[in-house]
Amino acid sequence: MADTALMDKLVSLCKRRGFVFQSSEIYGGLGSVWDYGPLGVELKKNVKDRWWRAMVHARDDIEGLDAAILMHPRVWEASGHVAGFTDPLVDCRHCKNRFRADDPRLKGTPGQPDAQCPVCGNRGTLTEPRMFNLMFKTFMGPVEEQAAVVYLRPETAQGIYVNYLNVLQSSRQKVPFGIAQIGKAFRNEITPGNFIFRTREFEQMEMQFFVKPGTDADWFEQWREWRMRWHHDLGLTPAKLQWHQHGPDELAHYARAAFDIQYQFPFGWQEIEGIHNRGDFDLGRHQEYSGKKLEYFDQAATERFLPFIVETSAGADRVALTLLVDAYREEDVGGETRVVLGFHPAVAPIKAGVFPLVKKDGMPELATELYHDLKRRFPAFYDDSGAIGRRYRRMDEAGTPFGITVDGETASARSVTVRHRDSMRQERVSVDQVAGFIEERLGRA
Ligand code: GAP
Repeated sequence: MADTALMDKLVSLCKRRGFVFQSSEIYGGLGSVWDYGPLGVELKKNVKDRWWRAMVHARDDIEGLDAAILMHPRVWEASGHVAGFTDPLVDCRHCKNRFRADDPRLKGTPGQPDAQCPVCGNRGTLTEPRMFNLMFKTFMGPVEEQAAVVYLRPETAQGIYVNYLNVLQSSRQKVPFGIAQIGKAFRNEITPGNFIFRTREFEQMEMQFFVKPGTDADWFEQWREWRMRWHHDLGLTPAKLQWHQHGPDELAHYARAAFDIQYQFPFGWQEIEGIHNRGDFDLGRHQEYSGKKLEYFDQAATERFLPFIVETSAGADRVALTLLVDAYREEDVGGETRVVLGFHPAVAPIKAGVFPLVKKDGMPELATELYHDLKRRFPAFYDDSGAIGRRYRRMDEAGTPFGITVDGETASARSVTVRHRDSMRQERVSVDQVAGFIEERLGRA
């Protein structure tokens, strides 16, 4: 299947089944902003819950945080975002389109008569590259003036740095320790696209690990290993995951070392998570800009130091897209195409579909009772409309791992048919055991 065809099919499946819709669609949509529908919100929540469990609940050395999106504007001066979070951009004076200066579609030298606009085709209408800040600005309070400017955070990390002492003191942690946060971030991306891959509003799952200088390289390696394993445990195809090391010209201003975890999307190998050794850049800058001492006092060694930071930064939307792409497959079944989202059961939005084989002979009543019982334990879906084969296909497209059919034998034998999404194999399970049967197979580590 051609790569663009696969993305087109996925986008259309996501709309059809209620994973992702374009934002404000009835008004023509808003560029590169997306809404998650009933199945999408469950999928993304499962990603975030798994991350939170692995990073916070399963560990003694990481605390959670939920900092506000709006922060003191000095934060973004200290972080380097006001001065440095910029892309060089070129405008077309004729059609008013805007491009990144390194857009491969631009022909000639922007600002010169030979330069050609890739959209309207005019020559000599492209401006010289100008720097453009990617942070969204808004105003705090009733007056819209420069003094009232605040930014929508472009990353969640800064909320962690400015709270590092609060968390350290209130939780009584000791270095090395980490702070984890999941939350929205906003970037006025110039070339967003590829569905939910690069958007202007997205969610990050970030963890900052504070370590003693000199131990950072070892922690960095340890975190690389743990984070790659987490992606494998989501059920992603291992051969489609790889490391990309940032060369000296790629490293962000704060990073001493950086590796991306990349996934092989239909549009190429792309980053889904970054692991960064940020040294003491962040705490050093916040100490300088705030005038507050942010050093850590190591009582055992009776020494003070500014901790180094190892950061793991993943996008919840990107991981959700990775799961969708990795799970999508088409199969020929008896001359018909079956579309399946083969999610790992732990991330599947719905765990079981419940179907009465026919709408009579007490089957709907038994199926409804079972459905309500299951729904108390995990997300389940009841469907009594159409042929059973069509109901199975709808659940295949939603990525539901188990289909439970109440049939003519259920009342007397107290058993149902459980159909496995991937193999389409069916087996008989007693009504009393079906909830446990499914729970055992959800693998919610
Ligand atoms: N605090 C470091 C940081 O923000 P980043 O590489 O700019 O580093 C980290 O972003 C992760 O956030 C990326 O790996 C990606 O998963 C996600 N991300 C960044 N920009 C995004 C965007 N425009 N849309 C969706 N996800 C994005």
